[in-house]
Amino acid sequence: MHCVRKVTDDLYWVGANEHRLALFENIHPIPRGVSYNSYLLLDKQTVLFDTVDWAVCRQFLDNVEKVLDGRPLDYLVINHMEPDHAASIEEVLLRYPKATVVSTEKAFMMMRQFGFHIDGRIEEVKEGDTKSFGAHVVAFVAAPMVHWPEAMVTFDTTNGVLFAADAFGSFGALDGKLFNDEVDFDRDWIDDARRYFTNIVGKYGPHVQTLLKKASGIDIKIVCPLHGPVWRSNLGYFIEKYDKWSRYEPEEKGVMIVYASMYGNTESAAGSLAATLVEKGMTNVIMYDVSKTHVSQLISETFRLSHVVLASVTYNLGMYPLIHNYLMDMKALNLQKRTFAIVENGSWACKSGTLMHDFLDQEMREITVLDERLTLNSALNEDKLPELETLADAIIASMK
Ligand code: FEO
Repeated sequence: MHCVRKVTDDLYWVGANEHRLALFENIHPIPRGVSYNSYLLLDKQTVLFDTVDWAVCRQFLDNVEKVLDGRPLDYLVINHMEPDHAASIEEVLLRYPKATVVSTEKAFMMMRQFGFHIDGRIEEVKEGDTKSFGAHVVAFVAAPMVHWPEAMVTFDTTNGVLFAADAFGSFGALDGKLFNDEVDFDRDWIDDARRYFTNIVGKYGPHVQTLLKKASGIDIKIVCPLHGPVWRSNLGYFIEKYDKWSRYEPEEKGVMIVYASMYGNTESAAGSLAATLVEKGMTNVIMYDVSKTHVSQLISETFRLSHVVLASVTYNLGMYPLIHNYLMDMKALNLQKRTFAIVENGSWACKSGTLMHDFLDQEMREITVLDERLTLNSALNEDKLPELETLADAIIASMK
């Protein structure tokens, strides 16, 4: 059975929600699911913007068939070739033999790489090209590395609709609520939107900045992303978030304490540091057990907050493996402009502090590591409380 929503008088959301998938890209947990958005324009000619993941293709095809209501499909515009949006291209072409695929040179190259039979049915476009479908005239805007090199966005100059590809997307299934004004985004969606951006597109901040600059020159009324709600109001709220995230600026002054603790002693010290920070007036403190928190969540919170305390045991004379994994992910995602403090623990040959410091100092860019460090030998004892106080004071001083 079809499940569609009207976006404007002649534009329909024909995507689908995915609730069964546990891991997006087989790595990021999505307990609230995800939506794969596709949009169908009924102009003099009919135009489908992107397709969906293979897992929800049946729902999508029912939706397209319902909205077309017997009309042929004339065009399929592919803004992004990643299979979560492009896997159903061939199925669409099989069902709609008159449809021509409109996309970039790189996207067509990838379609061939993925084994799609598209030759003879393609129309290549590039930055600045326009195309009329009847009443609607669209402009194609290159968006390389947001999030793959072939990506583009399509702007409908007639009604101000931006088909934004992966930009302005979010994890989370829509469950009927298509528009940002039908949900409490700041309460229910922002954490998933941040986790989506930082883990999927976070590495490509400068490319997102380029796209934001291009977008600032056009009169966007509605943003239709490939995941998550459609934005038709308060666009500035989300654009400001994207601007911050892509410049690697924290949203808030605050401290996240990420601890690795085998028997609870490092955790206990992390808790004492948190309490000391709060007593000294820094109440925006949150603790995460690196062994129980998915790294995608840690990354998202690291983009949100200004300060990170790494509190870790020494393990096999090295870093605790999950702390190392977190640091490697931070580096891969290009995280910058944060202040770190270090708490290290080791019952003998305590090494984790120096290893974490050197990673931050040598492998990452624009990172400040505080000189003050709390070194524990097995557990936090009375004699170490002055060191803990000094570290808390240094963290607070660095926030001013
Ligand atoms: Fe949602 Fe880069 O694909």
